[in-house]
Amino acid sequence: MPKTMIEPFRIKSVEPIRMTTRAEREALLAEARLNVFRLRARDVLLDFLTDSGTGAMSAHQWAAMMEGDESYAGAESFFRFEAAVRDLTGYAHVIPTHQGRAAERILFSVAARPGDLVPSNTHFDTTRANLEVAGAEPLDLVIREGLEPRTPHPFKGNIDLERVEALLRTRGDRVPFGMITVTNNSGGGQPVSLENLRAYRALLARHGKPLILDACRFAENAMFVKLREPGQGERAVKEIAREMFSLADGCTMSAKKDALVNIGGFLALRDDRWVEPARNLLILTEGFPTYGGLAGRDLDALAVGLEEILHEDYLRYRLRTAEYMGEKLRQGGVAIVEPTGGHAVYLDARDFLPHLGPADYPAWALVDALYLAGGIRGVEVGSVMFGKRLEDGTETYHPMELVRLAFPRRVYTQSHFDYAAEVVCELKREAASVRGVRFAKQSRYLRHFTAEFEWA
Ligand code: F0G
Repeated sequence: MPKTMIEPFRIKSVEPIRMTTRAEREALLAEARLNVFRLRARDVLLDFLTDSGTGAMSAHQWAAMMEGDESYAGAESFFRFEAAVRDLTGYAHVIPTHQGRAAERILFSVAARPGDLVPSNTHFDTTRANLEVAGAEPLDLVIREGLEPRTPHPFKGNIDLERVEALLRTRGDRVPFGMITVTNNSGGGQPVSLENLRAYRALLARHGKPLILDACRFAENAMFVKLREPGQGERAVKEIAREMFSLADGCTMSAKKDALVNIGGFLALRDDRWVEPARNLLILTEGFPTYGGLAGRDLDALAVGLEEILHEDYLRYRLRTAEYMGEKLRQGGVAIVEPTGGHAVYLDARDFLPHLGPADYPAWALVDALYLAGGIRGVEVGSVMFGKRLEDGTETYHPMELVRLAFPRRVYTQSHFDYAAEVVCELKREAASVRGVRFAKQSRYLRHFTAEFEWA
């Protein structure tokens, strides 16, 4: 049996990508005010900005799109989508949204009140911001190992049950529900074990609190459970995924990740306590409950994607991709979050750029340097994303300074990853020449998307 793991698909439609010179990239990045979100995608060679909505759909998904029923109300596409979500999650109420954050906003608008506290392992940035807009306080209670890039642990996305218990004991009256992100994106794409999920669920249940999954990468999480959790190796990934959903009372989902579509999401709930106000808000801001901001064809592609994502040959290849990149980077002396997560590799920018302090925003500086070095676009997961400028003008900083190279699903081949690893390892050798950055302009929420910078 050959050991080489291959991409489990062949390619029938291609998109050219464009090489630029270093001098061109210097000019383009300066024009983008040192913020890679402001670049034009045509000026990026390998786009590892996100795995969200950037995947390649299968022939089967494209075929399903032709069956899209574009009726305003009661479209067949909706019922196929609803059946796929119910089959996977077991939740009765399925509310389509245009993407994950719309599901978050709707849920938090109806289920959270000002002054509420919402625990999770780590809230993603849109989740955190939507809770804050609703007046609630998001609490990140990931286990200690989850904040230590090089401490080995098979499930670094687990939530710290002792801290959750202390919260419920002392301020439980202010906790409307618990959340957990699978896999834990902001903490390195790290999985949550079934054991931890079960215990979290039991703890919340003892205090009468529901559990909501942020399920964007549920399939990658389920595959990690199969590969790493004692006693799970023989189970089908789908069965594991179903158990994950069965332990929660609902989920918010960005279908742009593990439903293999370019746009879409949903809110799904087990019982009807929040359903009516959520649907009313949906009608107000997204659309009628059987399309929720999406075209019928999008719902069909999503239904097929939810099935395809659980193919185990795909998931094995998927997790191996990040692992392979991780091995190459480590061999080049690059410190990364270990073990590698599901959808991305996270570079430890503090280690990469030891000459920079927190106020130099090392992870942001490293993102800029990677673009200049090889036309690669990554994303900062550090103090620009998670720090804040307070009213008095002082800045808060995040405990980790990471650069995420996130991998679009079914888009790049092994040679693209070989090239990327080479660029990162070469840059590591010249790391001392990388300068820090300073804010020139920033907004109040989600400032990383629009901020402008200068070299320090
Ligand atoms: N939750 C998690 C864990 C996410 O990773 C994302 C999006 C969302 C919620 C919001 O979903 O984008 O469809 O509104 N993450 C993308 C990323 C943007 O790059 O990681 P959305």
